[in-house]
Amino acid sequence: MKTKIIYFSRTGHSKRIAEKIGLQIQATVYELKDNMVWTGFAGLLRALKSIRAQNDIVIQYDSSILDCDYLIVLSPIWGGQEVPSIKAFLSKIEHPNMSLVVINMGSDISIPIENAERNYPNIKSVYGITRKLKNEDTIINHLLNDKRDVYH
Ligand SMILES: Cc1cc2nc3c(=O)[nH]c(=O)nc-3n(C[C@H](O)[C@H](O)[C@H](O)COP(=O)(O)O)c2cc1C
Repeated sequence: MKTKIIYFSRTGHSKRIAEKIGLQIQATVYELKDNMVWTGFAGLLRALKSIRAQNDIVIQYDSSILDCDYLIVLSPIWGGQEVPSIKAFLSKIEHPNMSLVVINMGSDISIPIENAERNYPNIKSVYGITRKLKNEDTIINHLLNDKRDVYH
């Protein structure tokens, strides 16, 4: 069973978590890139604006990423939603065995989880990590234990 991981990260938390999961299960980790500059103060303003405005985002990824048995997608939460590039990715691709991990700072993560379950019915499971709750390792364990037959 080949597992791949794809993430977007503006400030590095989702990247670190993606790499942590990747190390635990020896999965290749990819960054989802796009045509926007999200860094710095201008990037933060752009990120805040993207919550309300539909933006013309162009995502860049190698389609070979879909060549796996299980795909784990990680997204920070911006204004209660996945970031624009992950939304575009999930709307565009199809994969029969996919999980989504959303990562936020402190707001109620059950709302974005429920929204993602509704918006992307083809995703098997949605997991939420809230940094303020320091539940990262617990949620990673849930994610990997749900696939215990594969990884243990
Ligand atoms: C534009 C923007 C909006 C955000 N909205 C929320 C939010 O609604 N709820 C929350 O708990 N955290 C929110 N955050 C915090 C991020 O979800 C959190 O810091 C996340 O871990 C960032 O991931 P990254 O370091 O991989 O970019 C927001 C951050 C940004 C930049």
